[in-house]
Amino acid sequence: MKAQTDSAVAALSSSDAEQTFGTVTAVTPVEPPAQISAEDVSLRQYTGERDLPHVMRLIDNELSEPYSIFTYRYFLHTWPKLCFLAFHKQHCFGTVVCKLEPHQELMRGYIAMLVVEKSFRGLGIGTKLVKVAVDTMMQGGDLDEVVLEAEVSNLGALSLYTNLGFIRDKRLARYYMNGVDAFRLKLLLPLSPEKEEELAAAQLHRVQVSLWHMYFVN
Ligand SMILES: CC(C)(COP(=O)(O)OP(=O)(O)OC[C@H]1O[C@@H](n2cnc3c(N)ncnc32)[C@H](O)[C@@H]1OP(=O)(O)O)[C@@H](O)C(=O)NCCC(=O)NCCS
Repeated sequence: MKAQTDSAVAALSSSDAEQTFGTVTAVTPVEPPAQISAEDVSLRQYTGERDLPHVMRLIDNELSEPYSIFTYRYFLHTWPKLCFLAFHKQHCFGTVVCKLEPHQELMRGYIAMLVVEKSFRGLGIGTKLVKVAVDTMMQGGDLDEVVLEAEVSNLGALSLYTNLGFIRDKRLARYYMNGVDAFRLKLLLPLSPEKEEELAAAQLHRVQVSLWHMYFVN
């Protein structure tokens, strides 16, 4: 995601946010153990403001773009069910932050941030975080695509998303604040037969209305 001033973010003033959520205290990073056993690793949904310091610490440490607390709160307050955290025992080492919005009669998911701490990479957790987020977005039924941006040089992320079926949609020149280009990646999802039928009926209706206008109104 690009660090930009979203209007919804800007609309949430500092005092509003402090009143709504209280002050956020930093979490001290914990050294991960040398041996990571699968039973000690768990994934769970964001549960509220007490999880915010985990998300902020991970993203601030691992992503190149700086984000304000209002950006975090914009996503986490609006789509708390689309944020997941990965834990090793009590230590939070990974997170994904997303949103879901209407787009041309359907819903479009957006993966804003994805991070796994260095010592926990290569274990499939990044993939699991993306999968659980996309599965949750699909529960509404109208999701037809999921998009995100990644630095063109971020081979790890590009490879992770390609493995999951994302395709390169376009290249965005100097997209990031550090001047690096981005790829817009897109995952196209099949719609249910009922939804396809509903969209086809709506399209047919639009054609009939415009023909009616052409012959009887103009
Ligand atoms: C990208 C990131 C989340 C991947 O997390 P992860 O838990 O290591 O990912 P996974 O273990 O699920 O890896 C899945 C696939 O991604 C690829 N991959 C992950 N890291 C890679 C790397 N450093 N180099 C090359 N490929 C890599 C591999 O193809 C891997 O598949 P494989 O296990 O079959 O080889 C992690 O590297 C990270 O946090 N990076 C910094 C933040 C970032 O770039 N976020 C993405 C912003 S778009």
